[in-house]
Amino acid sequence: MSKSAIIIGATSGIGKALAEVLAGQGYRLGLTGRRLPLLEEIKESLATEVFIEQMDVSDVAETEEKFKTLIEQMGPIDLVIISAGVGHLNPKLESALEIETIQTNVSGFVVIADAAFLHFQAQGKGHLVGISSIAALRGSALAPAYSASKAFVSNYMEGLRLKALKAKLDIAVTDVRPGFVDTPMAQGEGLFWVAPAGKAAAQIWQAIKAKKACVYITRRWRLIAWLMRMMPASVLKKL
Ligand SMILES: NC(=O)c1ccc[n+]([C@@H]2O[C@H](COP(=O)([O-])OP(=O)(O)OC[C@H]3O[C@@H](n4cnc5c(N)ncnc54)[C@H](OP(=O)(O)O)[C@@H]3O)[C@@H](O)[C@H]2O)c1
Repeated sequence: MSKSAIIIGATSGIGKALAEVLAGQGYRLGLTGRRLPLLEEIKESLATEVFIEQMDVSDVAETEEKFKTLIEQMGPIDLVIISAGVGHLNPKLESALEIETIQTNVSGFVVIADAAFLHFQAQGKGHLVGISSIAALRGSALAPAYSASKAFVSNYMEGLRLKALKAKLDIAVTDVRPGFVDTPMAQGEGLFWVAPAGKAAAQIWQAIKAKKACVYITRRWRLIAWLMRMMPASVLKKL
């Protein structure tokens, strides 16, 4: 029987590219996002069974409800990927942007991650994948809420991974940390090593197959991660 996956935030960028990769691997797909016409378009374009659910993850009550409905329609889910996120550069610290980031990247993430984990626990197995960021590693002067939200995502996934290990549950949790990927979100100056979304999705698929705990996308960003961790604040403030 075909495997089933849900991708939260599949209307564009990395989520959409992952939908294409998983369709190619024969997965049945549940795809979500706020833009219904894009979901319908993607459903038409993929040669697999696709369920769609319009969902704004910043509305946590509605998201929890709609996620459950999607699972009821699809049956047991093998893989849940949370790609939905916003990434505002916010040099003026506009609170609306910071709050939107927290509601989407933190609250929206938690409601899906927990519902997915509980679904996997009930059925005895499953795989949760969250798209965090290299930005999780240090604070950002330009996008403080974004980097903090991604630190939350990575740390939360480590918590869920430990929870599964302690309880000896067959649940894998993969923390995906992209550098720059060529999507509508990648904005601002000074971008480098920008990977096409298809290449990023292909490497994420390899990490999913290997049930990796944590992966940098593309692979060379592991080097930047190492540099970021070592960098003293005196150097960080000059970037
Ligand atoms: N691109 C990069 O360089 C980069 C680097 C590191 C990490 N990331 C992470 O990768 C993930 C995917 O981003 P991307 O680069 O693929 O950007 P993108 O093309 O802008 O895609 C973002 C996706 O998130 C969905 N989304 C945003 N807000 C949502 C909300 N409130 N409710 C439901 N869905 C929502 C969007 O769908 P709708 O608009 O239809 O709702 C869209 O499908 C994000 O978590 C991002 O932080 C990206």
